[in-house]
Amino acid sequence: MTDEQFTPAASEWVYPDPDAAGSARIRDYEATYARAMEDIEAFWAERAATLDWYEPWGQVLDRSDAPFFRWFSGGKTNIVLNALDRHIDTPRRNKLALIWEGEPGDRQTFSFWELWQETNRYANLLKGLGVGKGDRVTIYMGRTPELMIAMLACVKLGAVHSVVYGGFSEQALADRIDDAQSRVLITSDGAWLRGKVVRLKDIADEAVSKSPVVETVVVARRTGHEVHMEPGRDYWLHDLLAQPHVKTVCETEVMDAEDPLFILYTSGTTGKPKGVLHTHGGYQVYTSTTLSWVFDVRDEDVWWCAADPGWITGHSYIVYAPLILGATSFMYEGAPTYPYPDRWWKLVADYGITILYTAPTAIRGLMRFGEAWPARHDLSSLRLLGSVGEPINPEAWRWYHRHIGGGRCPVMDTWWQTETGGFMIAPVPSVGLKPGSATRPFPGIDVDVVDEEGRTCAANEDGYLVVKQPWPGMLRTVYGDPDRYVDQYWNAYRDQGWYLAGDSARRDEDGYIWVIGRIDDVIKVSGYRLGTAEVESGLVSHAAVAEAAVIGLPDELRGSTIHASCILVDGVAGDASLEQELRNHVRREVGPIAVPSQIVFVEALPKTRSGKIMRRVLKARVQGLPEGDLSTLED
Ligand code: WTA
Repeated sequence: MTDEQFTPAASEWVYPDPDAAGSARIRDYEATYARAMEDIEAFWAERAATLDWYEPWGQVLDRSDAPFFRWFSGGKTNIVLNALDRHIDTPRRNKLALIWEGEPGDRQTFSFWELWQETNRYANLLKGLGVGKGDRVTIYMGRTPELMIAMLACVKLGAVHSVVYGGFSEQALADRIDDAQSRVLITSDGAWLRGKVVRLKDIADEAVSKSPVVETVVVARRTGHEVHMEPGRDYWLHDLLAQPHVKTVCETEVMDAEDPLFILYTSGTTGKPKGVLHTHGGYQVYTSTTLSWVFDVRDEDVWWCAADPGWITGHSYIVYAPLILGATSFMYEGAPTYPYPDRWWKLVADYGITILYTAPTAIRGLMRFGEAWPARHDLSSLRLLGSVGEPINPEAWRWYHRHIGGGRCPVMDTWWQTETGGFMIAPVPSVGLKPGSATRPFPGIDVDVVDEEGRTCAANEDGYLVVKQPWPGMLRTVYGDPDRYVDQYWNAYRDQGWYLAGDSARRDEDGYIWVIGRIDDVIKVSGYRLGTAEVESGLVSHAAVAEAAVIGLPDELRGSTIHASCILVDGVAGDASLEQELRNHVRREVGPIAVPSQIVFVEALPKTRSGKIMRRVLKARVQGLPEGDLSTLED
């Protein structure tokens, strides 16, 4: 088993706060779980019935073409029907759906009514550009309301969005545009981060020059600096919105439950990013149920999921689930430490945030500055906290619990993946917690820790995390590559029909699950998911590099950092200036999140006789640890 980040220690219980537990939607986890597992189809049908459908489904779960499972077959819906349309005829229309603050301190709010109108206008604009059902639209923007509105507008028309995180650069963006074959790209002039402008439009221009498929670029104004606008291709969003045909009413496209909703690219074992595909029906049921039960979101809450909308956490829990539940969300554009390390805590106090959901890396990053920063602010509005993205070390958990949550807010550690659509292993506010464990599976979710043969591991024994029953929020395929879908997730336990998550884990004597880390060549850097192959191909695209091998090394702050070993082409000398040049190159090609912390120049790499790089050996070597079994190493 690889990538062990820390060893979960036998840890003390943290019992639920009576206030949080007493009002929780799920007060008896055991009974709810047992009831759901008795008949998962009945359970999910009951959850689906809480949402609106144009036409009811015929079959809850169709297993006939497994592992291409179909949920709510025959049902007609559109996630926008539930996220926006259904609130418009209720008093909720006047409630705030979104409160937003930009990094420079500017603010915007949208009621459900306003968000619905803006979405309709945007959808009409896209329709005018020829976007319709089934078309893919790539969105590359910072954390602004226009990003959310663009996503909803696509979906309203039945188009499929592919949001690319603003921290990716030109080649990564170009690859994703090509894979999705998007004719329309939506971007902005830039985004604010740490007081500086991230020049998104310039990067988009570079990407588009590599992706001739893009015909139209819609540009939102955010930072106001000069950008190049290509005549006949690039249009300002505000100009398009001012056209007379852009009305505030737009019909929502009636979609089949299994019609594609979005593609989100994520890293896997091989170089090419995988386009994880989610669909309307199951995803809306799954994300809304999980958010409602795990975070107990209520009408009076101000929910802050501090992720980026460009990752699955943002898709599910900034955009779709909170809107479906009619919750008020808060979104912040910039860096947590700008201009001072208390920016987040000031935001919590200013907006009366009641639930904060973030990543361990952010907590560790803010913890570094000490508790005097949060102590300056009144954080008493908070009632629940959450964590996602990587294992949270018990020390960070306790700091978060004590200094942010005042010792009274339970920390909901949620394990899930881009592929799962929503939380899979997570507590509800009424269960006992163990710092560092994501606790127990969500009702309806059948997870296990097994060995290579599929035998359930003994308590506290390391094994592979698998899911034994389909669930509505599961990915449906890898866009354009169904074989890869089968291969990656279903082949390891083909006979049993189980989903392989790609993580190692152990289950303790109380049935609590401790996720250890990835078993494949995926590295989690500050919670961001990167494939070693993506960084390697960025490195070898530089003329000086003949071959590169990338590994993740444990890091206290960021979870992992990237270590790169490069073999240079003949005659090139590896020195500090080349090292810097390679860093810049990776930043430009792949993105700032992929920049290696260490680059070393080597003569050879440990490989198997068939030529595969032995990362395990490389990692041990770099860390000065025993290299283990070397029998397959080439001479
Ligand atoms: C890791 C993020 C431990 C895990 C939603 C998983 C976690 C990968 C946790 C998916 C957690 C996520 N505890 N590990 N609470 N949450 N992970 O697709 O390795 O960006 O497989 O989705 O993150 O990353 P992804």
